[in-house]
Amino acid sequence: MNKTTATDVQHMVHQIIADLNHKPGALMPILHAIQDELGYIPSDSVPAIAEGLQITRAEVHGVISFYHDFRASAPGKHTIHICRAEACQARGCRALERHAQQTLGVDYHQTTLDGDITLEAAYCLGNCATGPSIRIGDDIHGRVTPARFDALIDQLQTVPLAIQPVLAKEDNTHG
Ligand code: FES
Repeated sequence: MNKTTATDVQHMVHQIIADLNHKPGALMPILHAIQDELGYIPSDSVPAIAEGLQITRAEVHGVISFYHDFRASAPGKHTIHICRAEACQARGCRALERHAQQTLGVDYHQTTLDGDITLEAAYCLGNCATGPSIRIGDDIHGRVTPARFDALIDQLQTVPLAIQPVLAKEDNTHG
């Protein structure tokens, strides 16, 4: 959606709830549908979801925060997924992810301060033979060294990024 107003968002959220709330286990389809439309699940949609499903807001928040696929804030202009699955681990993805996190100044599931790049983890991008692999938008890139990563970032025409304090977590393994 382009130039979506808050009213548009509320209308869209209510429409999704109305379309799906009769389904068994409707919470997950509703959350996925909202995220598919907006790229994230706005916090102010939580009361409507809770009301529509007759559950508590805490339950809705709990599900959003439990599943890393759900975002509670808008993603950046570009989303970069780094594959952390086994074949890419064997080909150096851990060093690549450290480099990416330090270069961008973000952890997984965070967006650079300029709102340009969101970093996400992936667990196999179907490009195992030429790992470490990353996906930028819809494009898969293989054999991504730290230098190649930097070149790819440059191609996104990212302005110099303000670096946040170095990540405290050396290895925030999710899987
Ligand atoms: S393990 Fe990384 S692309 Fe398959």
